[in-house]
Amino acid sequence: MLANKGNYAGMSKAVPVITIDGPSGSGKGTVSRLLARERGFHFLDSGALYRLLAYAAQRRGMGLDNESALAALAGELDIRFPADGEGDRVLLDGDDVGEVIRTEAAGSGASRVAALPAVRQALLDRQRRFRLNPGLVADGRDMGTVVFPDADAKIFLTASAGERARRRCNQLKEKGKLVEFEDVLADIKVRDERDASRSVAPLRPAQDAYLLDTSELDIPATMERLREILKNRLNP
Ligand code: C5P
Repeated sequence: MLANKGNYAGMSKAVPVITIDGPSGSGKGTVSRLLARERGFHFLDSGALYRLLAYAAQRRGMGLDNESALAALAGELDIRFPADGEGDRVLLDGDDVGEVIRTEAAGSGASRVAALPAVRQALLDRQRRFRLNPGLVADGRDMGTVVFPDADAKIFLTASAGERARRRCNQLKEKGKLVEFEDVLADIKVRDERDASRSVAPLRPAQDAYLLDTSELDIPATMERLREILKNRLNP
């Protein structure tokens, strides 16, 4: 699984990395962004890369199980995360697709392409190139286990499936979308199962990760806990 570790280890060790892994709805996207902003670090939303790939493939009429074609596409996509202002702007071939890749359909497509080993391999270097001074916060499923095994601090956020579904329903409601709690919960469970059982880079905490259950923590409380944890693992 860590096939590239030998080449990679030490390459950019001087640049600090904080990895935040966990299932969707654990709060990792929000706190990763906040943490990156607070420290003035770069931010890698690795889920957006898988979402973009699934979206781009569908836009080109490609099947989501064509592993070699998807891996080739992963290597050539023109993707940018402009650092200009708030929000989740993501540019694909110059078009802002930040909204459309956040849909449930794109998330489900992402989890299908993410199960393909050649796709993960094709996205590996691309993700590592985000490790730039003064540092990086990397958000995903395998940041601490595969992409940045030598990270300075590894966090694994969890929350119960029910709580994660509740948060997702609230987010969708805020966007004016009516959804059934049971449907969202079922979707989360399917995605969890697929992410945890795939043969390559399954969702699991790194051995040296700090586990934090956010079921009963809101965002400010989660941030407070993270600052505590990081105080002992990173230089100020
Ligand atoms: O984090 P987000 O919900 O945007 O990720 C979408 C999907 O992409 C996840 O359900 C997972 O299947 C996949 N993913 C992954 N590895 C990552 C990030 C995301 O497999 N590092």
